[in-house]
Amino acid sequence: MKAQALPAVELTRVSKNFDAVQAVRELSLTIQKGELLTLLGPSGCGKTTLLNMIAGFDVPSGGSIVIDGRDVTAVPPYRRETGMVFQSYALFPHMNVFENVAFGLRMRKMAKLGIERAVGRALEMVKLEGFASRRVGQLSGGQQQRVALARAIVIGPKVLLLDEPLSALDKNLRRAMQLELRELHERTGLTTVFVTHDQEEALGLSDRIVVMSRGEIQQVAAPLELYRSPANGFVASFIGEINRLPPARCRIEGDEAVFEIAGHVVLRARRREKLTIAEGQETHLFVRPEHLTIATSKSSAQNKVSCRVTTHLYQGAYTLTRVDAGPLGNLQLRALGGEAIAAAPIGSQIEIDIDLDEAVILAG
Ligand SMILES: Nc1ncnc2c1ncn2[C@@H]1O[C@H](COP(=O)(O)OP(=O)(O)OP(=O)(O)O)[C@@H](O)[C@H]1O
Ligand SMILES: [Mg+2]
Repeated sequence: MKAQALPAVELTRVSKNFDAVQAVRELSLTIQKGELLTLLGPSGCGKTTLLNMIAGFDVPSGGSIVIDGRDVTAVPPYRRETGMVFQSYALFPHMNVFENVAFGLRMRKMAKLGIERAVGRALEMVKLEGFASRRVGQLSGGQQQRVALARAIVIGPKVLLLDEPLSALDKNLRRAMQLELRELHERTGLTTVFVTHDQEEALGLSDRIVVMSRGEIQQVAAPLELYRSPANGFVASFIGEINRLPPARCRIEGDEAVFEIAGHVVLRARRREKLTIAEGQETHLFVRPEHLTIATSKSSAQNKVSCRVTTHLYQGAYTLTRVDAGPLGNLQLRALGGEAIAAAPIGSQIEIDIDLDEAVILAG
């Protein structure tokens, strides 16, 4: 029998107002046991506020919060069994690593031997064995981040809450810590709510992503689905790079959907079953840079568009090429390696193929 997904946290129409600011608006969301769920959205969209309400540091203006079947809306933070890592780490600078991690256990009046065992295990989990007697001031940013993580997991929380825990780290360390966090999650199976405004980090780490904007949920989905089938223009533009074409008129011709853009550019896509667009309705097309390619003399693609190359941005594994496609505006292409730089010099006139079968098509 397949295990039923069980709710770890249930938010029902949760709101938070700070005077005139509605930071979170009647937001409902169920977080399943054992999943790593990411809150993703631009600065000020309410991510921290939502996390603080789950932890109990902010009291909702409306709605209810249930953790593990218990309504905790009015329960103080230290009775909620949540572990939190703050963006600033918020470690105690005058204490050593052991004491920082042990803090929550002492507050819970755990016996000395139990504390030593639990702290040892937590430090092992975050790969800080041998650092117990170091002062936190003598640690690097990455090590301090691990101490904060150990301090949050040592109490055996029902939910682990992480508010942009990697944002202070440089890029390489950040990548390494993303992998470690994911591995830690696989090992512990802890229900985790992770906050970030970095979409790549969200795509890489999460079981599911909640995209937020202005205190509201725009879409909840697994990373792959979010990338391939964004629910609206906001999500399409926020997740990954994407080209937004000018508004199009759509008509159906046999097995094809035909889009007319800017009066005379005609692009074609395979007809989709799910596409429910009325004849002649205004539609919006979003195309990922990896679905645009430089046309070769051999290619027979139906969506050939001529354009002028304006820039190349070489990234090692791939190159981003920007072109001026006249009535279609400026577009970006992504091609593996760096061959595009010589094949399509800046200023040259080229033809590109637009693969609309992979495009996001939204009704206007
Ligand atoms: N204590 C507060 N008093 C007044 N307004 C607040 C308070 N905390 C948050 N806000 C406002 O609520 C909104 C949401 O803030 P929040 O910190 O939750 O955003 P965020 O998504 O975490 O942003 P960031 O990515 O910048 O951390 C913002 O408009 C913010 O200015
Ligand atoms: Mg925040």
